[in-house]
Amino acid sequence: MIEKEVRDFYVFLGPPGAGKGTQAKVIAQKKGVPQISSGDLFRENLKNQTELGIRANQFIKVGELVPDDITIGMVEERISRTDCAAGAILDGFPRTPAQAKALDDMLEETGCKINQVPYIAVPESKLIERLSARLTCRAEGHVFHKKYKPPKVAGVCDFDGSELYQREDDQPETVKHRIQVYEQLTRPLVEYYHERGILIEINGNQSIDEVTEDLMKLVNEVKESDVG
Ligand code: AP5
Ligand code: MG
Repeated sequence: MIEKEVRDFYVFLGPPGAGKGTQAKVIAQKKGVPQISSGDLFRENLKNQTELGIRANQFIKVGELVPDDITIGMVEERISRTDCAAGAILDGFPRTPAQAKALDDMLEETGCKINQVPYIAVPESKLIERLSARLTCRAEGHVFHKKYKPPKVAGVCDFDGSELYQREDDQPETVKHRIQVYEQLTRPLVEYYHERGILIEINGNQSIDEVTEDLMKLVNEVKESDVG
């Protein structure tokens, strides 16, 4: 049985384009735990033309959430893999109260719980600008931005050399709808985690490096207090 003390689970919460994926990748690497992005898992399934991927894409391409039963099962399977023995950074999951409850149950089964929920806050006016110029890598979902984080070679991922593309759901109209869906279905989780005393608001309206610095302070603080 995995000891609770050695598992570090963080949920990165925030609207579409807040920088969850950008930050989760860096923090996960620094902490030596995997980043689990439900969006990346869906896109990987779509790339492999699995039944799950094809079904999920009907919702993703129009900016709707994928139904809870599909999403929860997929993340549950991912969290149960051995590389999550020391924990994980969850990016984009949970996104509904039912998913939050399912996550609590999943973690409780192994005797652990979420450490902290960094909520990356960014004004809505910035989100469309961020997403309309985002470039995503086909292989591993590395994220770039034409202005704020340009790749070294245009159209090519710095990390694995794969092609960079614009996500179909990053069209301005779809982004607007995703923000509405976020406000309606995911925003209640801010209150949910706040009431449990594990929500920490992070100012996402700073440079990428400054946001990373704030997040690193947070995850290191937690580690020290866990030990003490
Ligand atoms: P998902 O892929 O999770 O998309 P999202 O939550 O809408 O979030 P994004 O990935 O768009 O934004 P992000 O916060 O990761 O920002 P990023 O770091 O890329 O989900 C896609 C779809 O899958 C959903 O719409 C839904 O259909 C489905 N889905 C996924 N999970 C689900 C779930 N749990 N339940 C149901 N359905 C689910 O940054 C954005 C851009 O900004 C980048 O270009 C980046 O370089 C730039 N940037 C980042 N930080 C900064 C900064 N500080 N300053 C300037 N630019 C910055
Ligand atoms: Mg993302």
